[in-house]
This record gives sequence, C-alpha cells and structure tokens, in this order.
Amino acid sequence: MSTDWVAFGYLLSAILFVFGLKKLGHPRTAPRGNQYGMMGMAVAVITTVLDMHFDGGIVGWTIIGGGILLGSLIGYIMAKRVEMTGMPELVALFNGFGGAASALVALSETWKYLENSDAIPDNELKLTVTMVAAGLSALVGWMTLTGSLLAMFKLKGGIEVFGKWIRTPTWGPTWLNPIKGILFISALALIYLSTEDPTNTDYLWGIIAISCVLGIILVLPIGGADMPVVVSLLNSLSGIAAAFTGFIIGNSVLIVAGSLVGASGLILTVIMCKAMNRQLIDVLFKSFGGSEKQELTRTKAGSDADEVAMMADGAQKIIIVPGYGMAVSQCQHQVKEFADLMAEKFDTEIKYAIHPVAGRMPGHMNVLLAEANVPYEQLIEMDEINSEFSECDMAIVIGANDTCNPAARTGEGPLAGMPIIDADQARTVVIIKRSLSVGYAGVDNDLFYEDKTMMLFGDGKAMMTQLNNAIKDL
Ligand code: TAP
Repeated sequence: MSTDWVAFGYLLSAILFVFGLKKLGHPRTAPRGNQYGMMGMAVAVITTVLDMHFDGGIVGWTIIGGGILLGSLIGYIMAKRVEMTGMPELVALFNGFGGAASALVALSETWKYLENSDAIPDNELKLTVTMVAAGLSALVGWMTLTGSLLAMFKLKGGIEVFGKWIRTPTWGPTWLNPIKGILFISALALIYLSTEDPTNTDYLWGIIAISCVLGIILVLPIGGADMPVVVSLLNSLSGIAAAFTGFIIGNSVLIVAGSLVGASGLILTVIMCKAMNRQLIDVLFKSFGGSEKQELTRTKAGSDADEVAMMADGAQKIIIVPGYGMAVSQCQHQVKEFADLMAEKFDTEIKYAIHPVAGRMPGHMNVLLAEANVPYEQLIEMDEINSEFSECDMAIVIGANDTCNPAARTGEGPLAGMPIIDADQARTVVIIKRSLSVGYAGVDNDLFYEDKTMMLFGDGKAMMTQLNNAIKDL
C-alpha cells in the first residue's frame, strides 16, 4: 500500500479521535463523540492491516480475522452483560488489558533481537530509542495491568474464593514509599542496562517483575473515596504505554491515540483530585484508608411516603441529590416523574445537585438523568448549587451517602477534606436508602440522625413510586 494512503488513513483516524474527544465534553453530544471514536479506531485498524498485507508482512488472514472476531465477541458479551453500576470495574479491566497489550507488542518486537541478532538495528541511536521505549512500555504496561486488576477488585469490594467473600484490603504503611522509589529506580537502571546489551533477556524479565509489584503496591494503599482518582490515572497510564509501543513499531496512529488517552486521562485525574480536594502526590503516597466499614451504633426511626408528601406539599424549591443508590435502583424515571408532579401541582422549582464523584464513574448521575430526559439546565454542579441549600424547602437525597456526609468537613478519616453537597443546610432533608448503612468510604453519616432529617427506608425505585403516588393523592 502506498505510504501516502497509510499516512492519510492514520491522519483521518487521528482527526476522528480528536473530534470524538471534543464531542464527549457534553452529555448531549457524547453519543456522537463515541461514534467518532469508534470510526477512528476502525479506520486505524483497517489501515494497519492493509498496510501489513501490501507490505508482505501480514501474519495470515486467519489469525487476523480470528483475533478480530474473538476480540469483538468477548467485548460485545462483556459490554452487553455489564450493569451500568459495574462500568467502572469494566473500565478498570480494559485499562489493564490496554496496558498489557501494549507491553506484549513491545516485548515481541524486542524478542526479535534475542532470536535473531541480525534484526538488531545498526544505527545505535535507533537501538537505544527502541530499547528505552520497550523498557518504558513494559514498566508502564505491566504496572497498569496489575494495578488495574487490583483496582477492579477494590471497586467490587472484594473477591470470592471458594465461596468465601474476601474484602480487598487497603494497606499502605509509610515505609512502603521508599520501597516504591527503590523499585522504580531499579526498573530505570534495568532499562539502561538493556540498551547496553539488547540480547540479554534477564533485564526484560526483571523490568516486568518489578513493574507487576509496583502496580500492586501503588494501588494497595488507595481506597475509599479516592478510587476515582486511581482509575483515571491507570487509564492515562494505559495510553502512555500504547504511545511508547507506537515508537517501537513506528506506528504514528498508536502514538497519537496513546498520547490522547494519556493526556485526557491525566486531565481527568487532575479534575478528580480537585473534586476530592486532594493532591495527586498525597493520593499516591499517603493512605487515606477506607477498607474498614465503620460500625453503626445509633438508630433512627423511619418516615413514610405520606409523611414526606405532606412536608413537600406547597414547597417552593426542592433540590434533589442523586447518588449511587439511584443508579442501583434505576429510579431516575420516577425521580423525573416526581419533579414533573411537583412542578405541575405546586409550581415547585426543582434542581439537581451533582457531585463530581457521585455514583461510580465520572458523569454517572448526568448520564442517568439525561436518560430520563431531565433538562440539562436543571443539573447544577456542586460548587454552584451549594449556596442555594439554605434557601430551599427540602433536599431529597436519593441513594447518596459519602457525597453529602458532613464527616468530610472534619480533618480525619477516608473522606477528610472532600468537598460535599451541603444538603444539611436545607430546611428539611429527606433521605431515601434501604438502611442506615455506610457509603463507599465506610463512614457513618451524621446527617441521617439530625432532627430535620426524614429517613425513607427502602429501595430507591419503590420509595420514589410510593412518594409519587402520595403526591398525586394530595
Ligand atoms: P455512596 O456513598 O456509595 O452511597 C450509596 C448509598 O446508596 C449507600 O449508602 C446505599 O445505602 C444506597 N443504596 C444502595 N442501593 C440502593 C437502592 N437500591 N436503593 C436506595 N439506596 C441504595 O454514594 P455516593 O454518595 O454517590 O458517593 C459515591 C462514592 O463512590 C464516593 O465515595 C466516591 O468517591 C466513590 N467512587 C466514585 C467513583 C466515581 S468516578 N464517581 C468511582 C469509584 C468510587 P443502603 O445500603 O442503606 O441502601
């Protein structure tokens, strides 16, 4: 295939990736952004395969076709079966696979040198660049794989072994930090040595082993509410590994796509850190804890839907605070129905307070509420809406817990310092959840026990349906 056509194909896919990313910036245009990204990837794959075919370097259509078919089938089944609430775990797994795939390609390229010393580039600079890129790809790629697998089990909460549920630990004594440093420097030293002697496999195995351990001990101390930060960081790392591999095999679209994933993942990591009021360095090297669930010692009597409806009767302003429980119970349609009923019956102003890490993935609440046709203008970010709680008649918290837990205002615990939705400033607070149990970070919530708080115990969808019926009966 003419190199002009290859360059054109790669340029087209890079343009599609950039447009896709731009469109992903708003919920309304995000589906189109996804389509652009898919088209970009399809163009990149077709161009690469055709280029290899015409170049005579193709390994065989059966292997290529079989790989594409098998990969597509596994991807399709996984995407079809995953619940919306399981998406972060799937994303973590995909990040890990992405890192491992890049590292394996890099490994296979350098393996050539071991089997056939004629394949070693004569040009010393080219050899050094290839070996450094292969070493870095191995370091980042394998670290991403083990770190992502651990992150996946942390997001799940644990792992089932022979029918026994084992909680994923969060463990990070300070003496672990110098060990991380030593391992990192050792990996860099091995990369340097591999440039001196590209045919010695021991260096490569050493880098792989160190990277696998590094991935685990980097993620192990991170827990509780900080998981969004680590997942987006691993996402960024998987892109960086791909970009390194692009250098080794001389594939420009891999460099572009890898850099885009690396850069956008890093931007998301910074946004997540800001949302959690954390420094990235603190998240990585200071364990905020969070694997232990606090024991509950207090009780609180529950209210019923009729009581809440009476309190809502004639309310001028209600702010809805959605959280993970809304996603679990899939009650976004009932929430929208409630908003419509209140607006129709009492001309109530309804707004939604969106916390940046509510749910289990960035934009989780926006996606769910958009699905129920809630107008975007009513979804207000935390910083903007917090000042409005003091003048609102009622805050209705639906399956949110950590994101409105006043414990975050204190200096201790896994939530310490995280900005929260100021639902406790509303005149009346209604909380819909099944029990008094803790949220993701495992911290008891004082808001539940306040006098002005009405607990509506039950599944989100069932409770919202009861509440809507009670409002209709008013
Ligand atoms: P959480 O603190 O996770 O609390 C959710 C609450 O929903 C639980 O306390 C649970 O209480 C309730 N719930 C579960 N199923 C329910 C159902 N069917 N009906 C009604 N309620 C139900 O939620 P949040 O306030 O959204 O905070 C999110 C947390 O996840 C943060 O700590 C955040 O850092 C973390 N996290 C976020 C992300 C991203 S990127 N968003 C990723 C990973 C982790 P009951 O069991 O009593 O019902």
